Formats: sequence, structure tokens, C-alpha cells
Amino acid sequence: MEKQEDVLILAIESSCDETAASVVKNGRTVLSNVINSQIDIHTMYGGVVPEIASRKHIENINKVIELALKEANVTLDDITAIGVTYGPGLVGALLVGVAEAKAIAFATGKPLVGVHHIEGHISANYIENADLKPPFVALVVSGGHTHLVNVKDYGEYEIIGRTRDDAAGEAFDKVARAVGLGYPGGPKVDKLAKEGNPDAIKFPRAHVDDAPYDFSFSGIKSAVLNYINSCEMKEEEFNKADLVASFQKAVVDALVSRAIKLTKETGVGKLAIAGGVASNSALRKALQDECKKNGIQFYSPSPILCTDNAAMIGAAAYYDYMNGVRHGYDLNAVPNLKLGERV
Ligand code: KG4
Ligand code: ZN
Repeated sequence: MEKQEDVLILAIESSCDETAASVVKNGRTVLSNVINSQIDIHTMYGGVVPEIASRKHIENINKVIELALKEANVTLDDITAIGVTYGPGLVGALLVGVAEAKAIAFATGKPLVGVHHIEGHISANYIENADLKPPFVALVVSGGHTHLVNVKDYGEYEIIGRTRDDAAGEAFDKVARAVGLGYPGGPKVDKLAKEGNPDAIKFPRAHVDDAPYDFSFSGIKSAVLNYINSCEMKEEEFNKADLVASFQKAVVDALVSRAIKLTKETGVGKLAIAGGVASNSALRKALQDECKKNGIQFYSPSPILCTDNAAMIGAAAYYDYMNGVRHGYDLNAVPNLKLGERV
């Protein structure tokens, strides 16, 4: 049995192709973290098919929640509040989690807390780092977002830099597809790059004029595609491992240089990474080295907490709940929800 004063969040995440539920105690202790991935089905189509994602969420969500409660050894009676991702993401996918969370909140009379998906990714850092407290800088790199964020306080975010075109994960996925590695590209590029020479091909490190913290990845992606095309035209073989290692290095350089620059400028001395691309081994290594050189404390969630999961939503929901955030039964999915915005 849990102590009376413990706050237990039942968290639900269904914004893309993972149906996930988790029970998190006091924002930092994960009692269960169940993730039902649809990756096998979407791989057949080379990417996430939104309607299939929604249908799979509907099929699986009750089982996933049941398992999360069982593994945490609790019942709905023990839960303090229900946390759910309500944006950003695929609208049909988000609606499944939101409707489910509302139904549970309604049936049990427990409070409902809507969570921003990116706030969840950032909060994944609280789970394994008991000492991490705002303020800190967060580099958010996922399939849909690339943001440099000043985390001023729990639930208080200032976006300092963002991508002007593709998200970092999107660039990984597109390059992987171009070299025939398939979906999802990031982990496959990460693995193959280990066998390649990152200095074999020089790709551009794009910068955005007058916006030192903004990113642009479409130029790097186009340079990779042009490289492949010109090799094919000349009927020349190219080394796939060298190509992806060189691409990965260009992306990692762009991310690391800006993240370190901002952390130094803010003087907070703490940098955390978040999102699916944060599980990239070259990025983690480069950030670790640069942080060490510059006297910055570096935080990174375990890879399983970097990609989509509900434990991160439970961590974020706890701090939102403690800040008094409550949503009504009219909570809706907001596919373009902005970080720091409350709807
Ligand atoms: O955060 P996430 O699971 O979902 C979104 O909210 O978008 O991120 C998924 C993205 C995909 O683009 C995937 O290719 C990328 O993260 N990713 C990686 C790695 N693992 C996942 N990118 C590079 N290296 C990895 N090891
Ligand atoms: Zn995500």
C-alpha cells in the first residue's frame, strides 16, 4: 500500500505510434512503464500511417493500462490523478488517449491533467536524476521537434532556438530511407554509422543568419541526396557506412555547438537532452565530452525514456498537478499545441 501523502499519477501517451501507460510516484519514481509499439505494422508502409495508429491505439489501450496498474501493484483507487498527452501529435492518435483518460477521470472522480508531449520528453530527465531541478537548458530532438529550451521552472519554458525546416529525427529518417535502411531510420543510422568514417564526406553545417540558436537540416539532407544521385549517375559505388557516419556527424555538430553555446550563455551550468534522437549514441557521447570540457553538468535519460513512453508524461503531470493544473471533461486533442501554452 502507498503512503497517504504519495502522489500517484496514472499517465497515458498515444500521440504517435506507441500506446503507453505508466504509474509514477511523486514525479520521479516509475512503478510501471508499459509501451506497446506499433513499429512492425508501420514499417511495412515505410512510416507511420495515422489511421492505422489510431485503430491500434483503440485496440490496445485498455490492455496497456491494465498492465501498467498490475505491474505497479496498484488499483485505480490508489491513483491520485490521471495524466494524458493532449498535444502535439497526430489528432486521431491523441484522441484515443484523451478520451480514455477522460473516461477514467469521470468514472473515478479523479483529477485530469493534460500534458504537453515535449514537456513530457524534457521531464524524462527527472526520473533518473534526483538532483536535477530547474533552471537548466534542454535540447529537445525528436521526430517532429528540434528545440533549444530554457527550462526556467517546472512547467515554465522559453524556446530560444528551433528548426527552420526538418526536425533532426525527420532528417535521420529521410536519409535512412534514401540509403535503403528503412523505417525508423534513426536507430539504423546510429548502428551503421559505428562502422563508418565520420570525416569521409564533408557535409554543410547550416546556420541561420541572425538566429544563432536556430537549426536547419534540410540543406544537410539535400546534400546527402545529391551525393547519392551523383554517385548513381556516375555508376559509382558509395560506402553507406561512411555516408551515414558523415551525415550523423554534421547533425551532431550542429546540435552540440548550439546547445553548449546557450548553456554557457545562460550560466545555468546544466544541460539535459530529450526526445527520440537523444538516444543517438554519437550525440550522447559528443555532448558528454563537450559538457565535461566546459564544466557543464550533463543529463540524459536512458534510451528507453528518450523515445515515446508514458513515464515521462507521468513525471510532467506530477509537476503540473502540484502547480494546480486541472483539465475539465471538455479537454480535447490539440495537434499543434505550443510548449508552455495551456488550453
Ligand atoms: O521522440 P520520438 O520517439 O517521437 C516523437 O515525438 O517524434 O522520436 C522519434 C524520432 C524518429 O525520427 C527516430 O528515427 C529518432 O527519433 N530516433 C533516433 C534514434 N532513435 C530514435 N535518431 C537517431 N539515433 C537514434 N538512436
Ligand atoms: Zn515524442
